[in-house]
Order: sequence, then C-alpha cells, then structure tokens
Amino acid sequence: MRTQVAIIGGGPSGLLLAQLLHRHGIDSVVLERKTKDYVLSRIRAGVLEQGLVQLMEQAGCADRLRSKGHVHDGTLIAYGDTMFRLDFTDLTGTPVIVYGQTEVTRDLYAAREAAGGPIEFEVEDVTIHDADTDRPHVTYNVGGAARRIDCDFIAGCDGFHGVSRQAIPLTIRREYEKVYPFGWLGVLSETPPVNPELIYANSPRGFALCSMRSDTLSRYYIQCSLSDKPEDWTDAAFWQELKRRIPPDQAERLVTGPSIEKSIAPLRSFVTEPMRWGRLFLCGDAAHIVPPTGAKGLNTAASDVHYLFTGLRQFYDTGATDGIDSYSAKALARVWKVERFSWWFSSLMHRYPDQSDFDLRIQIAELEFLRTNRAAQQAMAENYVGLPY
Ligand code: PHB
Repeated sequence: MRTQVAIIGGGPSGLLLAQLLHRHGIDSVVLERKTKDYVLSRIRAGVLEQGLVQLMEQAGCADRLRSKGHVHDGTLIAYGDTMFRLDFTDLTGTPVIVYGQTEVTRDLYAAREAAGGPIEFEVEDVTIHDADTDRPHVTYNVGGAARRIDCDFIAGCDGFHGVSRQAIPLTIRREYEKVYPFGWLGVLSETPPVNPELIYANSPRGFALCSMRSDTLSRYYIQCSLSDKPEDWTDAAFWQELKRRIPPDQAERLVTGPSIEKSIAPLRSFVTEPMRWGRLFLCGDAAHIVPPTGAKGLNTAASDVHYLFTGLRQFYDTGATDGIDSYSAKALARVWKVERFSWWFSSLMHRYPDQSDFDLRIQIAELEFLRTNRAAQQAMAENYVGLPY
C-alpha cells in the first residue's frame, strides 16, 4: 500500500490529523492496535479548549460538540472552609467547553467513516522503517497477514505505550519524567452533577474533583493511594469519601447512584525530546504526558496536531519544509508550558505523603493568593482555557 501520511494510532490525535489532512486533499492510513469499541470504552477527561474546538470545526466534526457540549464560564476551587470561583470569561474573554474526550473520538470516527478513509484495527507488530530517509515505510500484521505501507511521512499518535517514540534512537532521544506519589480514582454515574460548574477541592483527606459529562451524567474523582485497586472501593465507600472532601453544602446536595465505570489512573509528567526524527513526528501522549489536573492531555495533543498539520499542508502546497522543520521546537515550547501548569495545579491541589507543615502552609498561602489576586487568577485562567497556538 502507498499513502502520503501513515498515522500510527487511532485515538483522537491520529483521527483528528487524518481528518484535517483529508479535508486538504492529503491521503493517510490510520493503524490502530485495538478495536474501535475498545478505543471508545476508554473514559478520559472532558474539558475542551477553544483551540481544540476550532480544530474540530476545521475538521468538519464540531456539530455534536456545538449542540451537546456545555459552555463553562468558570470553575470553583475549594480548600479549608473556603470556596471561590475563577471566572474564565471575565479573566480571559474565553470559556471552555465540557464535552467528553470519548465523544470527540466518536465524532472523529464518524467523520473518518463518512469520508471512507482507511483505518486498520487490531494491527500487530507495527514497525517503523527508514524514518531518517526520504522513503520511510511501516510494516505490521493484521489477521495473520503481513502488510507494508510506503509513505512520505509517519505520524506517531500511538500514546505513551506505543512504538513510535521507541523508534527514535536513544542517542538522539531525551526523556524527562516526574511521577506523583498518588493516583486518581474516578467514577462515572448516571446522576445529575452536584454543581453546574466543576469543583476542584484540596481537603485534608486529599484532592477531589466534581466534574460532569451532561445534566444526567457525572464524573467524580478522589486522590487515592497508588496501591489501591478499583475493586477495593465499593460505590458506598467512594461516595462517603467524596462527601468528606468537598464543602459540606455540596456534600449535602450530592446525588449518588451506582457507578457505571470506575478506574484508577496514576499521575505522571513526561516529555520526550525531540518530537521529530527525520520523517517521523510524534503527537500527543506518544511524546508527553501530563497529570489530569486541568484536563490538558487531549488539548495538548490537539496543539501538536495543529503544528504538524500546518507543516504538512505547507509542504504539500509549496514544497517548503520550514513548517515541518520547526515542528518539534514549536510543539515543545507549548508542551513545556502546559507541563508547568499541570504540575503547578496538581501540586496546589493534592496532599502529598511527605508534606511537612511548612509545605502545607505554603500551599494554603498560594490558594489564598489565587483567591484574592486578580493577576494570579488571570495567569491560572489563561492556562486553563488554553495558551495560544
Ligand atoms: C473530567 O471530567 O474527567 C475531568 C475534568 C477536569 C479535569 C480532569 C478530568 O481537570
């Protein structure tokens, strides 16, 4: 098979890139290790920056997002006996859209299928060849048959555990990592959200987050120990713990119900450099991971896709390579700022096992500063709604 861009990974970044390329008359083949149902069963965050919304428009995939997504003008932050609101629209002129990543992925699949764009599911042994030459190719197996795709470029959109990053030689690749000493236990339930806006809570018992997908579907998280397993937590134990971590008036109002999904995610900050090697370009989790506080994972993958699409479009339109040549530097400049924000917001909101009384007082002082200082609020809000591309 021959295509212009071989896209490894059928998650939201790979599909978004494929759709943007398609609309510009550039062919691609998407390779996915799992099934479509599996990809659509993964629950991820649900807060979209304007930049991602605009890319979805450009991809022709924003109709459902526009009709079913909820515009959020602000968020609530709770600590001690205090809760305050950050008004994003007042502070930055921009709201965020609450719409699940799973739905974004579903919309992108629908568009790919409508366009008749090739996707191969359940591919195995994906291997990248000659990425440092002008004639790269990808080999893989599907249903026991060996396949080969010759292409101009390879987009590695295959996540943290994918093969793309590993294809960059260790003599060139440098990785930076921070692992946090706790995880998030998340529950999805068919209950109305406790509050129309998200609540991020720093409580003495650990972090909690009240989020949502719609008026009838809620998503809640609590900080948990890394050794916890989802099956250690009954629904009753989860609800009880959540109530103890959020302000009492919210706890009183909280509607509980059976969980329809329950999972634990570790928290990690990770960046690999460079994000390009020859004709291989990494996008999204293949190159970087952020802790979920602030919901920057998908949004940061989207900014990578924007830079890569812009470079590829320029190459196919004019033959110029400055867009693809500056891809890694441009993407990483934004990635590191998002890494900083996600690390900062995580550090502000969680209880650390080794936190001293001094550390705690500093955390409270920072929350007080954020509550009372407009400049601090503005810095937070600009990052939360999304830094410019
Ligand atoms: C979510 O709704 O899953 C969510 C929202 C905000 C975050 C993280 C996760 O910061």
